[in-house]
Amino acid sequence: MNKKNDEETKPVMQKEIFEQPAVVKRLFERCINSDDTVMLNIPLNINNVVISASGSSYNCAAIAAPLFRELLCIPCEYEYSSEFILQKNYFVTPQTLFIFISQSGETSDTLQAIKKIKELGGKTLCITNSENSTLWNLSDYRILSDAGEEKSIASTKALCAQLFCLLLIILKIKFSTAGSIESEILALKRLPLYLERIIGDFDRFKIAAEMISKYRDIVILGNKTYYPVAKEGALKIKETSYLNVMAYPFGEFMHGHVAVLNEKAIVIAIIDEENAMSAKRNLEKIRRDYNPKIICISSVKDIDSGDFNIYIKTSKKIKAIFGSLIVLQLIACEIAKILKKNPDRPKGLTKVVRD
Ligand code: AGP
Repeated sequence: MNKKNDEETKPVMQKEIFEQPAVVKRLFERCINSDDTVMLNIPLNINNVVISASGSSYNCAAIAAPLFRELLCIPCEYEYSSEFILQKNYFVTPQTLFIFISQSGETSDTLQAIKKIKELGGKTLCITNSENSTLWNLSDYRILSDAGEEKSIASTKALCAQLFCLLLIILKIKFSTAGSIESEILALKRLPLYLERIIGDFDRFKIAAEMISKYRDIVILGNKTYYPVAKEGALKIKETSYLNVMAYPFGEFMHGHVAVLNEKAIVIAIIDEENAMSAKRNLEKIRRDYNPKIICISSVKDIDSGDFNIYIKTSKKIKAIFGSLIVLQLIACEIAKILKKNPDRPKGLTKVVRD
């Protein structure tokens, strides 16, 4: 196949994954001043954050929540919109910020969620890719995630942009409380180049996808912020290849869930500095007891616990989060291609889930 034909047959999902370095570069240039101040109109007197969203937008909230706690030392809860609207009590205070995330701005569960909070007089902020959407118009504060139109049903670049926006919120609040944000700003500035480098390793991810595509039971493991990264990877593979993929926090997996490895299964492990020791220990035990195939995606050098190891070199957590997401997105897209599924138009799914 010549280069032009190859370009034409590339799934839209893959093209959108490849756009991510440009998406984050554009957001950086739009939202961060030359003196490194964050240009966002958000309330700053906040001591508590609650996020409501669905699907990938929910996973994005779950990835960011530990960062609110770590970098701002404030509680951050997150909930599926469909569950949020079933809650009996909502704890609305003047210092609580309710964030609603939606690529489309039209997901009915998330719209119902924001309406509940508005009725109670809560402070609402949306992150959406759709200016003038219903969610946009309902919110007190608005952030445009600006990923460009996302055509593939499997969300990739929109989630990346949403996560970037949540980080901007964290940095803006941190700066307002006299916290230093220099190192995080630098990480965000270098993110586009880092993501380009990751994409440059696509051929290695194709090997991983080839291995994974031979299994019908797939387990993805990660800790803290990487557990929702694992969930997002699982969602991408489920949506595009209809395989049974489960994500677990590493340690919790050992409490019984590990028995699924008695059936023919493959394990994908996400490893960073913080969980490297315990992940290695758990993987050794898993290998001893069940001997499954193991693929590691690691930002730490010299991790060789897998049958196949993907190294996404960085010492910056912020970069490693985006890096591991892109690796999983590309692996998911590639598995769908290998299994002859159309990743852009999964059977039975629509881009916007309405009532
Ligand atoms: C993600 O790949 C999905 N297609 C789906 O889970 C989606 O994220 C969810 O329906 C929420 O959509 P929204 O961001 O437009 O609200």
